Amino acid sequence: MPETRTRRAFAPGRVNLIGEHTDYTGGLVLPVALELGITVEVTTGGGRIVGVSAGHQSAELPALAGGSDLAAVEPAWIRFLVAAARRIGVVDGFTATVSSDLPVGGTGLSSSSALTCAAVLAMGAEGTVIELARLARLAEIDATGVEIGIMDQAVSMGGVADHALLIDCRTLDITPVPVPSSIEVLVVHTGQSRDLAGSAYRRRLDECRRIEQAIGPLRDAGQDAIAELDDPVLARRARHVITENERVRRMIDALAAADGPAAGKVLLEGHRSLRTDYEVSTPIVDDLVATVAGTTGVYGARLTGGGFGGSLVALCEPGTEVALDTWWTRARPGVGAHLLA
Ligand code: GLA
Repeated sequence: MPETRTRRAFAPGRVNLIGEHTDYTGGLVLPVALELGITVEVTTGGGRIVGVSAGHQSAELPALAGGSDLAAVEPAWIRFLVAAARRIGVVDGFTATVSSDLPVGGTGLSSSSALTCAAVLAMGAEGTVIELARLARLAEIDATGVEIGIMDQAVSMGGVADHALLIDCRTLDITPVPVPSSIEVLVVHTGQSRDLAGSAYRRRLDECRRIEQAIGPLRDAGQDAIAELDDPVLARRARHVITENERVRRMIDALAAADGPAAGKVLLEGHRSLRTDYEVSTPIVDDLVATVAGTTGVYGARLTGGGFGGSLVALCEPGTEVALDTWWTRARPGVGAHLLA
């Protein structure tokens, strides 16, 4: 008789301070786990897959439905749980209840990684932060077909209160970096939802592979390597990644010095690079960055996450108010995924 067991786990969403589109070339990233996230309760066993999530279509299907074709499993949100179950070896079905205080669906705050990380823990997986993050990443790739990097799962699993995480996506070393109390993090939803599975992310991955075939690992490249690329589009993409890795180091220095204006400058330069070199911004996002960055008390703002909408991250003086129609929140860095009683 297969084991039946109930566990409940929480996993946070994230906002990335800097280091965008660098994880899949082994670069540096500096995300923070949010206090907002997703809670998943799972009872394993029962021979069927049953899923309930507030505001979403319920799921009911036979265990292991879909064979190897997860793309055919509906509703789409249950794919993340089915993929996690398969990766972990939960073969006799499960019943899952999902709740969220994170805005979900294309918000650029990693709700799908939070869902997958919470599911991985609630289904009984054990291991180090990086082992669990790798498992969640593979499940997410199974569910979406997009070869994302490891940033979102690593910060969701490993978040540390009041700290950003410097994640070296080549060595997978994680170093908590204190966020000083004199600098506040704001998260602003653009109102434009983006679809990561969209072709643009895949195209950027492919462009980075072509760049690396020509000049070697982007992580090791200096700005002088950009001139070796004949294709002007690839040259711009390379310039983004190379300068973005440098901006991660500058942000760490600015946080260590509690230097809000220097941190804000890094954000604004990062946004310019995403807009003109990596071309993952939109006019709505650019306008919102200008509005938020122009608000008294705000040091700087930029697009965060995969791009084409989603959310902005801003750094500001504590207590700063932004007058916006869209959803926004102050974000103290929170803790990583954990089992709940
Ligand atoms: C998405 C992916 C991450 C990362 C970001 C861009 O969130 O899941 O792995 O590539 O986009 O920085």
